[in-house]
Amino acid sequence: MKIACLAGDGIGPEIMAEALKVLDALGLEIEVAHADVGGAAYKAHGHPLPPETLELCKASDAVLFGAVGDPDCDNLERHLRPEQAILGLRQALTLFANLRPATMFPGMEDLSALRPEVAREIDLLIVRELNGDVYFGEKAIRQLDDGRRQGFDLMSYAEDEVRRIAHVAFRAAQGRGKRLCSVDKANVLETSQLWRDVMVETAAGYPDVELSHMYVDNAAMQLVRNPGQFDVVVTGNLFGDILSDQASMCVGSIGLLASASLGEDQTEYGTKGLYEPIHGSAPDIAGQGKANPMAMILSLAMLLRHSLGLEAEAARVEAAVAKALEDGIKGGDLGGSAGTSEVGDAVLARL
Ligand code: IPM
Ligand code: MG
Repeated sequence: MKIACLAGDGIGPEIMAEALKVLDALGLEIEVAHADVGGAAYKAHGHPLPPETLELCKASDAVLFGAVGDPDCDNLERHLRPEQAILGLRQALTLFANLRPATMFPGMEDLSALRPEVAREIDLLIVRELNGDVYFGEKAIRQLDDGRRQGFDLMSYAEDEVRRIAHVAFRAAQGRGKRLCSVDKANVLETSQLWRDVMVETAAGYPDVELSHMYVDNAAMQLVRNPGQFDVVVTGNLFGDILSDQASMCVGSIGLLASASLGEDQTEYGTKGLYEPIHGSAPDIAGQGKANPMAMILSLAMLLRHSLGLEAEAARVEAAVAKALEDGIKGGDLGGSAGTSEVGDAVLARL
């Protein structure tokens, strides 16, 4: 088993170090190879996703990814900005299915931005499409004939792109509560109308799953009103980006949510994928040993499960994180004072 480890920018290297401590402690025979990505890669090699980094990822069973984003790089041309590294990896590895689970950790209800009795019910999975939508459509800032500048980003989905994410979502629902809510904006967008049509068509193959539809504005509202109503949510790239950040605050902190980005390629042990916390590089606290590594450690657990077929080890890591939280080990994001390595050590001790 071989994993590519891309720590990236900001807090990436600090939280990655904690995840690697946990991986080490599991005593598995896994080869870990490191490479630069994001702003760090731009500074060292002139590109946020250097060819050798991409090659390493292609040659690995899975990619463990920290975070990218560096204010020093914000004024570079778009194709050189750190964010292009993650977008480039998602595209080059055809990682079209982004799984973002949001589950309440027992005893953590008070940390939620919602009332505890509402927060207690959260146990949902957002399945976000990751290879299409306005993210990858034609885009530019152009000058109109009358001299005004106009920005545009084409939103589009081809039916096969919707179908493949639909299958992932239906299968995920089969493995959970058998309820799938497809989120779109079909009252306004043609892209969404096609999305909805394909969801309905695909549903025919999954009679055991109950499919419902919700407009994204309503979904944003329902997510804070009654998040317990959701089991699996499937949505496009842009809506999924926004709703998953929102879901994280419903759980308590963006520092707790992990994600898996999967494609169709299989490894010897599972599905090839990239695993990353849903939070960013947090440059404001980088290098201070303050960042909560839990989302990074939980991303490692997802890697063990989905790409390496190590379900028991994945569950052990998740249980250790849950126990640490239960025992009151909290980073600053959760209103506590535990530093990055303190949280990592606490998880290790409970492993
Ligand atoms: C995410 C992030 C990325 C996205 C950025 C860093 C490009 O916000 O993974 O949710 O928009 O997909
Ligand atoms: Mg995001």
